[in-house]
Amino acid sequence: MPSALTRFSFIIFLAFIAAYASQLMWGAIPSIVVAISFLSFPLAYSYVNLARLRKYAITDAVENMPLPSGYWEEVFFRLQRLVQGLKSRIHSIELQHNRFIEAFQASPNGIVMLDEEDHIEWCNALFERFFGLNFKRDVMQRINFLIRRPEFILYLNNRQFDEPLLLDGMGPNSNLSLLLQAFPFGHKHHLMLVQDVTDLQKADAMRRDFVANVSHEMRTPITVLMGFLETMQSINLDKAQQEQYFEMMMSQSQRMKNLVEDLLTLANLEANTLPAPLAPIKIATLMALLKNDAEALSRGQHQFYFDSVVPSNLMGEEREILSAFGNLVNNAIRYTPDTGSVTAKWSINALGQGEFSVVDTGPGISAEHLPRLTERFYRVDRSRSRDTGGTGLGLAIVKHIANRHQAQLIIESFPGKGSTFTLRFPKERIAE
Ligand SMILES: Nc1ncnc2c1ncn2[C@@H]1O[C@H](COP(=O)(O)OP(=O)(O)OP(=O)(O)O)[C@@H](O)[C@H]1O
Ligand SMILES: [Mg+2]
Repeated sequence: MPSALTRFSFIIFLAFIAAYASQLMWGAIPSIVVAISFLSFPLAYSYVNLARLRKYAITDAVENMPLPSGYWEEVFFRLQRLVQGLKSRIHSIELQHNRFIEAFQASPNGIVMLDEEDHIEWCNALFERFFGLNFKRDVMQRINFLIRRPEFILYLNNRQFDEPLLLDGMGPNSNLSLLLQAFPFGHKHHLMLVQDVTDLQKADAMRRDFVANVSHEMRTPITVLMGFLETMQSINLDKAQQEQYFEMMMSQSQRMKNLVEDLLTLANLEANTLPAPLAPIKIATLMALLKNDAEALSRGQHQFYFDSVVPSNLMGEEREILSAFGNLVNNAIRYTPDTGSVTAKWSINALGQGEFSVVDTGPGISAEHLPRLTERFYRVDRSRSRDTGGTGLGLAIVKHIANRHQAQLIIESFPGKGSTFTLRFPKERIAE
């Protein structure tokens, strides 16, 4: 394509030839008019094209503008290429930006971006939920005006972001524990990540409680045992006294053994998350075993009623079922005063579910304790339960065994009116 200078020289040349020819034909003045007309032609052409460019630029449609012919064609063509290139770059940057936003939204952490003066530049939906904010409303607000917890404000002011900060009692229901930490980025900006650690905190508290409970339960029999041993070391006891001491030491050792065995049972049950196998268990045999054990434990002090119906097979793990049923019967005997009665019954309800229930005429349990009975080490009356040798692990074990058999543990009890503990098994685990 000829250069602008060549084109311009060519027009000057044409204007000169035309002016010269006009002068020869018509004289000086017409030749000037002809020369001016020739020179104003490119000006008019440029003006028309500029007006078209303006029109398309106003509607942001330069890339759709029809191309003129001649010199302006190349100018417009290059302009259109530039605009198209810029627009497609903006589009791909927008797509990338949206993908980043989507990724931040999908994060299991709350995220907020703060500028150098802690104004909220952006936050994800989880962060909004954790702190009850609304991004559209709160954008560019100072975060310490919106989150008013003193420890948070102190954390922000101290600028010591190497350690995370734990905030309890957060979230819409004030029941969340949140761990947050700020990380610097860009020019004095900060990215703050917030993790929901409620479950971890609960597990930690449970672990601490558990260790405290086990130590406490072990300490009592160990102290008693040591006391007896010291006594036996320092005082000369006669045979009868010695035997009495040995018996008491035996009972404390038995107590520790029971505790360790129960703890091991619980640990095994907790480690085993699979459902119990579907091996048939004969309910009649089970009931006979339970009755024998119950009579031995009661030493003839209680009245028993044991009753079962067909279909008489339960599909599950026999050892576990025997332990769960045994725990319920044991409790009924241990917490029911002598001369009371204990009824253990196996039946099938209208929905075909199998129900093993133990009804006693004991003291009953008041409503506030019922939801907590299956917690490890929970006892209604610690001293009474300890007298009967209980550690508060029995019902926790029953609950685990029930879960492994997809069974429900239902507890109905009223103070002074006795208790009914029922294990309800799904009909898939019942067989003829
Ligand atoms: N049939 C019942 N009547 C009244 N209270 C009961 C009965 N069964 C359980 N409880 C109460 O529930 C508490 C928890 O029972 P659980 O069987 O878990 O523990 P425990 O009997 O004290 O000890 P463990 O069973 O480990 O020897 C008992 O301490 C007792 O207070
Ligand atoms: Mg018990």
